[in-house]
Amino acid sequence: MSYRPIRKAVFPVAGLGTRFLPATKSVPKELLPVVDRPLIQYAVDEAREAGIEQMIFVTGRGKGAIEDYFDMAYEAEATQRERGKDLSALEGTRLSPGNAVFLRQQEPLGLGHAIWCARDIVGDEPFAILLPDEFMKGAPGRGCLKQMVEAYDKVGGNLVCALEVPMADTPSYGVIDPGARDGALTEVKGLVEKPAPGTAPSNLILPGRYILQPEVMKILETQEKGAGGEIQLTDAMASMIGSQPFHGVTFDGRRFDCGSKAGYIEANLALALDREDLGDHIREFALAELGVSGIAAAA
Ligand code: UTP
Repeated sequence: MSYRPIRKAVFPVAGLGTRFLPATKSVPKELLPVVDRPLIQYAVDEAREAGIEQMIFVTGRGKGAIEDYFDMAYEAEATQRERGKDLSALEGTRLSPGNAVFLRQQEPLGLGHAIWCARDIVGDEPFAILLPDEFMKGAPGRGCLKQMVEAYDKVGGNLVCALEVPMADTPSYGVIDPGARDGALTEVKGLVEKPAPGTAPSNLILPGRYILQPEVMKILETQEKGAGGEIQLTDAMASMIGSQPFHGVTFDGRRFDCGSKAGYIEANLALALDREDLGDHIREFALAELGVSGIAAAA
């Protein structure tokens, strides 16, 4: 059976990034670099690899730098060219004309509300959502959204990325009430946003990658505020379960929560250690910094 292709992706980038203040006072969280590429670039690369054609950014006040980032960098490009310097660092940073849409969420009323703001651009087709502060590191050519699109081609309907975390961490996330598991696919029987400690239906959380049917927009239109007084995407998705297929996909790769300081630093270290130009230097530094006893303690 063939399902309607996933051609559009929504990137909600209107949040205030308060956990990174003061860095995010004037720089959008989504432009914070992991080594030398901004978080949003990794998410866009991941979407492109999964076959996404149209990138829809839901931005807000103070986020104009994101739009500029994906434009032509005239001065930098011209200067580098004049100096005979390599321009490969800028590869993939310019989006094709007409393939990027920027719209505004005037108030950060929640992730569900941010997605709803994109309803007219998404239209009547299934679409992907990528939260750029969740950095999903797959093997080359095996990004998280690509793995999800492959699963979608088999089962259709709605899919969320599913990630196991320690039970104690579940109150910070949307959590899956899981049904039968078949390989990387888990049936989703229910979803709950930020469950109270000790009440989560499992330790499978939603780390910010979704493929959803357009009907979710209709639900979001009348969605009441949920956890934290915000309009929650999880609540809207939960009310689709039963009327449409719903699955979790276990990502074969590593996830870094770059919305938190610890996750952001871990992502920088992991990526730097993997890089040919930096790996040895960072390894040496870490070894010297931790010392032999520190490493033994960390192991
Ligand atoms: P987060 O809650 O992680 O981001 O939302 P935040 O609110 O910016 O960060 P903190 O907690 O204050 O540090 C996840 C994603 O959803 C977007 C954010 O930009 C982020 O990419 N978001 C969240 C919106 O676009 N609008 C909202 O109303 C809320």
